Amino acid sequence: MTRLTTLADGEAVAKRAALEIARNLDGARRARGVAHLALSGGTTPARTYELLASDRSSGIGPPNWDGVEVWFADERCVGPEDEQSNFRLAHETLLAAAGVPEERVHRMEGELGPEAGAERYAETLRQRVPAEAEAPAGTRAVGNTGALPALDVVVLGIGPDGHVASLFPGAPTLDAEAQALCLPVHDSPKPPPERITLSLAVLRAARACVLLATSASKSDAVAAMLGKPSPHVPASLLRRGRLSVIVDDAAAPPPPNN
Ligand code: 6PG
Repeated sequence: MTRLTTLADGEAVAKRAALEIARNLDGARRARGVAHLALSGGTTPARTYELLASDRSSGIGPPNWDGVEVWFADERCVGPEDEQSNFRLAHETLLAAAGVPEERVHRMEGELGPEAGAERYAETLRQRVPAEAEAPAGTRAVGNTGALPALDVVVLGIGPDGHVASLFPGAPTLDAEAQALCLPVHDSPKPPPERITLSLAVLRAARACVLLATSASKSDAVAAMLGKPSPHVPASLLRRGRLSVIVDDAAAPPPPNN
């Protein structure tokens, strides 16, 4: 079952999300000495990122960023300085303030274009993120995710059409072969058209996904993702037992029979 948390407003959503992400990072570091965090772009997670980077005395962010490796769920095919870059958003809201060293930030190289960028990222992921089945003795392998890298926590937004990362409704990326890690996108309905995205299989292999939605423009998508899994609503295909959905009142699905 998907965990759904409904809170009054965007600030409360950001605070809860930051706390949950920080808890996941700490758990992963305690268990394995390292935590793999993947970030999305879009407007929704910016405040969460700021809170995660905030002064430790606020009690929200992790106590430190030692051992945290930062990844991306998707990227637009632009350079890292471009205003549309997801890396740039993460850098400005979180990475610079938190002082995460460059060598632990793995950005998708949008400037290489969809194919080369996706290929390069898949290679890096494969090299640096162990599959759950390869986890050290004492930790249990769960599910049928095979040898896919297991990110510890993936932060996701959702589009009004139900997309997550750059996996769009009915797109060929949803039919990618089971072991594909990272995919090129050429015709994103959300600009810019060229993108790089983690595959659905990698999102499903993650130990946790935290999906954030605020504003009434997202309420239909949130209701649809909690319904029957369908390729027309990519978010509905995420692994429900590992998914935490945090929404504000406006984005909350209407109560049943209403
Ligand atoms: C992107 C995203 C995308 C985003 C959703 C929600 O790069 O465009 O990663 O999946 O999370 O479209 O975007 P908003 O938060 O702006 O509504």
